[in-house]
Amino acid sequence: MKEITTKIIQGDCKDVLKTIDDNSIDLIVTSPPYADRREHTYGGIKPEKYVDWFLPISKELLRVLKPDETFILNIKERGVV
Ligand SMILES: C[S@@+](CC[C@H](N)C(=O)[O-])C[C@H]1O[C@@H](n2cnc3c(N)ncnc32)[C@H](O)[C@@H]1O
Repeated sequence: MKEITTKIIQGDCKDVLKTIDDNSIDLIVTSPPYADRREHTYGGIKPEKYVDWFLPISKELLRVLKPDETFILNIKERGVV
């Protein structure tokens, strides 16, 4: 039986992802901030800046995900202009 381990790492994903090895993750489920939302909660990201904000994060997500494994993205259409 394949051993499944769970570890919760709280922090800014831009910093936390750097601590995770290449090709080491089986499943990524992410619900990033929606553009122009929650300005007062976590700063909010302008729609026109969204791709530039998310691209470096998505590159890291691709780096840590094992080839042929699963990436689930929950996002609203406002995120991409
Ligand atoms: C759309 S909400 C996700 C809500 C969550 N799925 C739920 O059901 O409660 C986006 C979340 O991303 C978090 N967030 C914003 N910037 C972040 C970052 N740089 N690193 C990690 N989390 C971040 C926010 O704090 C917020 O909880």
